[in-house]
Amino acid sequence: MSTRTILITGGAGFIGSHVVRLFVNKYPGYTIVNLDKLTYAGNLANLIDIEHAPNYRFVKGDICDSGFLKNLFSEFPFDGIIHLAAESHVDRSISNPMEFIMTNVLGTVHLLNEARHAWKADFSGKRFYHISTDEVYGSLGTEGYFTEESRYDPHSPYSASKASSDHLVRAYHDTYGLPTLISNCSNNYGSYHFPEKLIPLAINNIRTNKPVPVYGNGENIRDWLFVEDHARAIDLLYHKGKNGETYNIGGHNEWKNIDLIRLLCKIMDRKLGRPDGTSAALITFVKDRAGHDLRYAIDSGKLQKELGWQPSLQFEEGLEKTVDWYLGHQDWVDGVTSGEYQYYYQQQYEQR
Ligand code: NAD
Ligand code: DAU
Repeated sequence: MSTRTILITGGAGFIGSHVVRLFVNKYPGYTIVNLDKLTYAGNLANLIDIEHAPNYRFVKGDICDSGFLKNLFSEFPFDGIIHLAAESHVDRSISNPMEFIMTNVLGTVHLLNEARHAWKADFSGKRFYHISTDEVYGSLGTEGYFTEESRYDPHSPYSASKASSDHLVRAYHDTYGLPTLISNCSNNYGSYHFPEKLIPLAINNIRTNKPVPVYGNGENIRDWLFVEDHARAIDLLYHKGKNGETYNIGGHNEWKNIDLIRLLCKIMDRKLGRPDGTSAALITFVKDRAGHDLRYAIDSGKLQKELGWQPSLQFEEGLEKTVDWYLGHQDWVDGVTSGEYQYYYQQQYEQR
């Protein structure tokens, strides 16, 4: 059994919790250290099933705190880092960009510095894996796909901060030889998704008979991937990807927002035993997001050819599973939608 010590940042968030769970269960010989600040988006309830696993440790901390990171790196002999910690919601980046610059840009540089310092004696067998987004490529027209060669063209403070962190990760590879790897993924969906994002927000609003806000005319297109498929891709890339490379990850699954919401409404009517059309009546077109990217679509051919990865689920199946999870985990939803969420929701949607 191989042994490694891996630092996963942002492991209490949506995608991070799926990655932590996969690594803790699949690699009993590894020590998995989850470093998370537990912002509004981080929740230890996401990891309750593995919290007592002997190969798992949780550490609360901020990636922007270099003194804290120094101590952490002297306590654990990390072989690798999978960096997911970030501010991740585009709408919040429009109302409060500084948090995004602090965590996504400066926090990433603090981590890069610490890895470089801790590993300087020997980079062999080490890896700094940075998790990024397709939003760095900007917006597509009606045709074409983002490839690893697409030009960076971010439009929101969130995507600009992620683009900036990608450039810095590449710079540390090219300048210092740090063994880095980047993947850029499309929109994820599934369990433990915070209900500020479209799919879980719509599920929650439909269940509670609240308006379902669709920005603009609902024609914007996203490429949706089941979160567990993203976690599998991260596992493959962490172990088999090439240093210095970028890999795109996507679902080959484009949906206009309005079509996705209509499908979700149908599923919800059936699950809740309501007459067909009840949920669709809640759809409300609201003021568009500023700088709203029209279309994202990923070409993940490189990852498929080099490492044989494929999405495992059809979207309808994944969406049904997701709805079932939310309807079966009302305690979790109630927990994350109390307090700060109510204030956020009011600020965000009252004016639209
Ligand atoms: P999330 O918002 O659900 O979770 C982010 C986590 O990071 C939270 O647990 C939060 O507490 C933690 N965090 C935030 N600031 C921190 C700090 N300063 N120090 C330590 N921890 C901190 O995000 P997510 O949707 O799971 O996204 C994870 C990563 O994947 C992000 O880097 C995001 O850019 C990227 N990504 C997300 C998607 C998506 O569809 N959600 C798609 C592609 C890429
Ligand atoms: O593409 C990857 C990105 O996907 C990740 O990097 C981000 O972290 C993640 O949040 C996600 O960004 P989006 O902005 O695409 O996701 P969001 O769920 O916020 O919105 C999806 C689409 O739905 C988008 O076109 C905006 C629209 N929308 C969103 C909300 C919250 C609505 O129409 N109404 C809403 O209430």
